[in-house]
Amino acid sequence: MAKKKETDFCNFCGEPITPDTLLIHGESAAICENCANRVNEIVSEFHKNRPSKNQNHLQELKLIKPKELKAKLDEYVIGQEEAKKVISVAVYNHYKRILSGKADDKGVEIEKSNIILVGETGTGKTLIARTIAKLLDIPFCIADATVFTEAGYVGEDVESILTRLLQAADYDVHKAEMGIVFIDEIDKIARKGADNPSITRDVSGEGVQQSLLKLLEGATVNVPPQGGRKHPEQKFTVVNTQNILFIASGAFNSMDKIIAERMNTNVIGYNKKNRQLDKENIMKYISAQDLKSFGLIPELCGRFPVITYLNALDRDALQKILLEPKNALIKQYIYLLELDGIKLEFTQEALDYIVDKAIELKLGARGLRSIIEKIMTDLMYEAPASKKKNFSIDLKYAQTQFESSIFSFLNS
Ligand SMILES: Nc1ncnc2c1ncn2[C@@H]1O[C@H](COP(=O)(O)OP(=O)(O)O)[C@@H](O)[C@H]1O
Ligand SMILES: [Mg+2]
Repeated sequence: MAKKKETDFCNFCGEPITPDTLLIHGESAAICENCANRVNEIVSEFHKNRPSKNQNHLQELKLIKPKELKAKLDEYVIGQEEAKKVISVAVYNHYKRILSGKADDKGVEIEKSNIILVGETGTGKTLIARTIAKLLDIPFCIADATVFTEAGYVGEDVESILTRLLQAADYDVHKAEMGIVFIDEIDKIARKGADNPSITRDVSGEGVQQSLLKLLEGATVNVPPQGGRKHPEQKFTVVNTQNILFIASGAFNSMDKIIAERMNTNVIGYNKKNRQLDKENIMKYISAQDLKSFGLIPELCGRFPVITYLNALDRDALQKILLEPKNALIKQYIYLLELDGIKLEFTQEALDYIVDKAIELKLGARGLRSIIEKIMTDLMYEAPASKKKNFSIDLKYAQTQFESSIFSFLNS
């Protein structure tokens, strides 16, 4: 007589097993993948809520006061005073919020300070976020919003962001849960709207925004530790996003026009005389309303209470970036050659030339590196084997090297 084998059922939920479901066998019982996942969640939840473990990480958290944090940022990031200040305050408040626990006795609860950085490419958005994470010694990861798709479509799931954060935290869940997630190119998932016909992304942009929203709302998320698509056999790590700081960034092209339009409309009709619009620095008026006009859904804007902008870098700033930050580009090349016993210097005219070219490239500070690399390649190739121990990069040399590299590029 055919007796139904007990292994066709999960001994926990009693459900019969379909050919697609994984059943894990023990000595005298079996558990289905659904129950296994649930058990995994319960176990993680239990360990997470144990105070001793949590406390250790909280003690490790370096709370640096805003002024001090800004001063440290100054060593790495040139200009962008407003952004550095706003972010220093937001980050300080964020970690104070975590350390203080939940609400105070009057029920005052500190809202999370996720940040949106608006600024052209190469102005230091990523640099600021990365530097903050380094200064505070917390896990940091960068995710590009354009690679995400709505669940069920080909592409990466939004949850994979947390996989990267886990990796950055050496798979220490508690540490990851206090980390910073940097979401780049958030402007590229704006929905196409009447206000912003220039966006080419179709409706799916909105779907990705919806998925992001879940992470931002402070959810418990099942994270595949190896990333990629959810796979039935993969064990999940449960990550709570409640204390993760999200910093989003984007160029938001033509944002100045959206702001100007709003300001003009607002100014007309009330208080016109008293309003002095600083037309040169229109970006400083940026508000959540402008992000909405650009095509971010209101719920998502609501999750980013801190909005700040980064200025395009002018020639003075670019010059400083070459020379002043702790690991300034020029310092790096001088050091590289110093290791070969070679003394390298740049004339002021050569530096001016590099800055000129960077401005032409319109890549902000991002262009500086590729320009110097082009100028320096031949020298770095020849110099270590040369008897000459002093090299000066002057205008003529910089110009010749740069132009010939462009020429060979055009011919290749
Ligand atoms: N304000 C700045 N101060 C110092 N270096 C900068 C600044 N902005 C950009 N850089 C340099 O340019 C590179 C690219 O900047 P990044 O922060 O990635 O720009 P983006 O705004 O596009 O994120 C950085 O690695 C850094 O070397
Ligand atoms: Mg960037």
